[in-house]
Amino acid sequence: SDAVPFYGEHQAGIVTPAQDRLHFVSFDVTTEKKAELAELLQEWTAAAARMTQGGEAGAFGAVGGIPEAPPDDTGEALGLPASGLTLTVGFGESLFDDRFGLAARRPAALAPLPKFPGDALLPEISGGDICVQACAHDPQVAVHAIRNLARIGFGRVSVRWSQLGFGRTSSTSRAQATPRNLMGFKDGTNNLKLEDAKLLREQLWVAPGDGQDWMAGGSYLVTRKIRMMIETWDRTSLLEQEQIFGRNKGEGAPLGKKAEFDPIDFVAKDAAGEPVVKADAHVRLAHPSSNGGAHLLRRGYNYVDGSDGLGRLDAGLFFMAYQRDPRRQFVPVQLSLARKDSLNEYIKHVSSGLFACPGGVKDAGDYWGRALF
Ligand code: HEM
Repeated sequence: SDAVPFYGEHQAGIVTPAQDRLHFVSFDVTTEKKAELAELLQEWTAAAARMTQGGEAGAFGAVGGIPEAPPDDTGEALGLPASGLTLTVGFGESLFDDRFGLAARRPAALAPLPKFPGDALLPEISGGDICVQACAHDPQVAVHAIRNLARIGFGRVSVRWSQLGFGRTSSTSRAQATPRNLMGFKDGTNNLKLEDAKLLREQLWVAPGDGQDWMAGGSYLVTRKIRMMIETWDRTSLLEQEQIFGRNKGEGAPLGKKAEFDPIDFVAKDAAGEPVVKADAHVRLAHPSSNGGAHLLRRGYNYVDGSDGLGRLDAGLFFMAYQRDPRRQFVPVQLSLARKDSLNEYIKHVSSGLFACPGGVKDAGDYWGRALF
C-alpha cells in the first residue's frame, strides 16, 4: 500500500520523501479551556491516524452514520488510496502566551523571527497557534485531510490561513530526482536528505537536553511564502539567471562544473579575475560554509494562486524548512540572503511562520502535544 506509517519516533512528513502536493493550514485556538484544547488534539490525532492509512476521518465515515446527523467524514476521498498522506503538527509561539498556562513550556528556540530586510509580511497570512502540514501525492487527499481537521475543530479552533502547493521544490531523499521550482531551476540538490543520518542527528532533530524535553525528537519548521516576480524573471537573460543562483539551468551543475552533484567551487576565478560563483550568488550565501556549518532540510512547494488582478501570475515558492534550532540555522542564513542575495530583485516574502513540531506519536494511546498537558 502507499500508506506512510503514522506512529514512530519522529513525525512523518519531515524526512519522508517529499510528496507532490501540499495543503498547509494554520489555526488559531478559540476555546479558552485547556482541557478542550487537549481533547481536540486527541480527536485530531485519532482522525490523522485513520486518514493517513487511507481511512475516513471518523468511525462511521461519510455514509455509515445516522441519516439525521452530519457525516463524520466529508466523503471526497472515498475510494482514493492513502496516496502517501502525511500529517505533521506544529505549535506556534502564540500558543505559549498566558491563555493555557503553557508559558513555562515555550522553548527558547521558538523565539519570534527577527524582521528581515525587505520583508513584506501580511499578518493575516502569517503565524498562528497550531499548524498542520498535509502532504500527499493526490491533492484531493491532502485537501480532504485538512478540511476534516478543520471540521472536527469547529468551535475550538478557527482557520487563520492556509496554502495549497503543487510540485515539490525539494528532494529529501537520494532516491528522488531533483524537481524544479517556478524559476525553472533544479531545487533541492544540496538539501539535507533522509540518508544523511549523522547530519540529521546534528542539524534536524531536537535532542534531549536542547531545552524543553517535550521537543526531543521533534524539529522546528519555518514557513515563508515567497512571491516571485515571474514576468520580470522571464525577461531576464539566461546568463544572469544562472549567475543569480550560481548553478546552470539545464543540469543544475555549479557554475564551472559539469554535473549536478559536483561540489561547488567557491574559489575559482574566470578570465577577468571575477569569482565564477559570484559573491552575491544564492548558493554561495546559503551554503553551510558561509553560515557556520548550518544546514536546513528544505521541503517547499510551488504555488500559483491564480493572477493578481493586474495580469501578473500570483505565484512563487511556499518555502518550508525543518531544523534543530532556527536561531542558529534559518535566521543567520536568511539574514545573509536578505542583505545580499541577487535573487531579491525577483522575490518578495509575504508570509512567515515558525512552529515547534514535537516528536512522533508513539502509539494509539499517545496524541499530538500530549507532553504539554
Ligand atoms: C539552494 C532556489 C529561497 C536556502 C537553492 C538552489 C536553488 C534555490 C535553485 C540550488 C539547488 C539546491 O542546492 O537546492 C530558491 C528560490 C528561493 C529560495 C527560488 C525563493 C523564491 C531560499 C531561502 C532560503 C534558502 C529563503 C533560506 C533562508 C537555500 C539553501 C540552499 C539553497 C540552504 C543550498 C545551498 C548549498 O548548500 O549549496 N535555492 N531558494 N533558499 N537555498 Fe534557496
